[in-house]
Amino acid sequence: MNEANLKAEMLQAMRRLAKSVTIITTSNGHERFAMSATAVDSLSTEPPSLLICVNKTASLHAVLDAGADFCVNILGLEQEELSHLCSGPIKGEARFQRGNWLSSADGIPYLGDAQSAILCRQDGKFSYGTHSIFIGRIQQIHNGAAISPLVYLDGSYTTTAAPAPTLAAAG
Ligand SMILES: Cc1cc2nc3c(=O)[nH]c(=O)nc-3n(C[C@H](O)[C@H](O)[C@H](O)COP(=O)(O)O)c2cc1C
Repeated sequence: MNEANLKAEMLQAMRRLAKSVTIITTSNGHERFAMSATAVDSLSTEPPSLLICVNKTASLHAVLDAGADFCVNILGLEQEELSHLCSGPIKGEARFQRGNWLSSADGIPYLGDAQSAILCRQDGKFSYGTHSIFIGRIQQIHNGAAISPLVYLDGSYTTTAAPAPTLAAAG
């Protein structure tokens, strides 16, 4: 398979990878930045850490590339509007016009009513192709009470499905 076909098939494959939707937030000390992201994962529990993959064309990339700390805000089902806002044409501070945004002691924005807001100190980066991987050493976590994340699957927003059929049958 040539590179173009591989890319198309990869995009099709990724439509089958259900991911919770997050908003990555950061600040350069003067201005706040936010971006919807699903390329986020846990890295290690010792030390507690995660990784995010950010397109080099994204408006917050330069801030992260300069070493800024960041927060991974896991969205709830009712926060789809925020994901649209943080992946659309409006940039910078204007992305914070909606949502219960608070600030950490270090000036990193976090969503007060996120499923979870995971505040990280940047602890490494790796450039690969169109994206950079940034490693976050977790500093502080604000977990919400309910678990009802907004999920992105097959190019659409959805939520966690009912239990898988085998488990449901076992009842
Ligand atoms: C559900 C969803 C998930 C996304 N995941 C990522 C991601 O993991 N990494 C990324 O760089 N862009 C991701 N994007 C795209 C960015 O949110 C979008 O391109 C954003 O507008 C780029 O930032 P900018 O507008 O500030 O330049 C995602 C968009 C959506 C809607």
